[in-house]
Amino acid sequence: MTPPVLSVQGLKTGYGVMTIVHGVSFDVAPGRITALIGGNGAGKTTLMLALAGLLPLTAGRVIMHGVDISHQRSNQRVQAGLALVPEGRKVFPTLSVAENLRLGAIVPRAQADWQGRMEEMFELFPRLKERQRQLAGTLSGGEQQMLAIARGLMSRPSLLLLDEPTLGLAPIMAKFVFDTISRLNESGVTILLSEQDTRSTLRVAHEAHVIENGRVSLSGSGQELADHPRVRQAYLGL
Ligand SMILES: Nc1ncnc2c1ncn2[C@@H]1O[C@H](COP(=O)(O)OP(=O)(O)O)[C@@H](O)[C@H]1O
Ligand SMILES: [Mg+2]
Repeated sequence: MTPPVLSVQGLKTGYGVMTIVHGVSFDVAPGRITALIGGNGAGKTTLMLALAGLLPLTAGRVIMHGVDISHQRSNQRVQAGLALVPEGRKVFPTLSVAENLRLGAIVPRAQADWQGRMEEMFELFPRLKERQRQLAGTLSGGEQQMLAIARGLMSRPSLLLLDEPTLGLAPIMAKFVFDTISRLNESGVTILLSEQDTRSTLRVAHEAHVIENGRVSLSGSGQELADHPRVRQAYLGL
């Protein structure tokens, strides 16, 4: 067995005294797409924020490449190879597309040849190349999502966390984002994806976990969960 890129062990977190994630455990295997599915308010974003070091753990551990990163700050985690593409894109609206990308590469691991990396991003997302001088706040939702993903990739992550990347996007843009996720994964990027679009997610995910009320309620391969009666009833409307 190859060791996991990420091992989440009994993670608890929340806001102040309010616990939202009640002891979640799962692994992310290298080269795979691991998905967290669950409805609105299940705790996916809270979990993602804790993995990225933006919310403190109240219990449990996060191990990345065998190193305990549970108490590392978010910038140290980026340097360790973890990049979060946050829910709601969160691009810098008053900076240009190119400036947003440049900021994705300010960690030491990404500083060498950031220009070359930006060219790679422009090949992956030609739309961003056309709009590189445009202010990010003036892009469409789908274009902002491309920019948010590209900004995350600028740090040359070994693990990309994508938090609800298709939320609020038109169906054609959502499809493009799912195609991009598959393409990135085929090029070797390990991905942890949280989503509410269960059907499309289970199609691309190698492994998936259902998050309900801050706990993992079911786990399996994408296909196993797509066939599971509870998932079919509660998440696929079948
Ligand atoms: N900043 C916050 N302060 C307090 N509670 C929050 C905050 N953000 C989210 N929550 C609560 O945490 C729960 C989980 O939310 P969230 O992690 O965003 O779920 P999901 O991403 O699965 O939709 C919800 O009940 C939500 O109201
Ligand atoms: Mg969310």
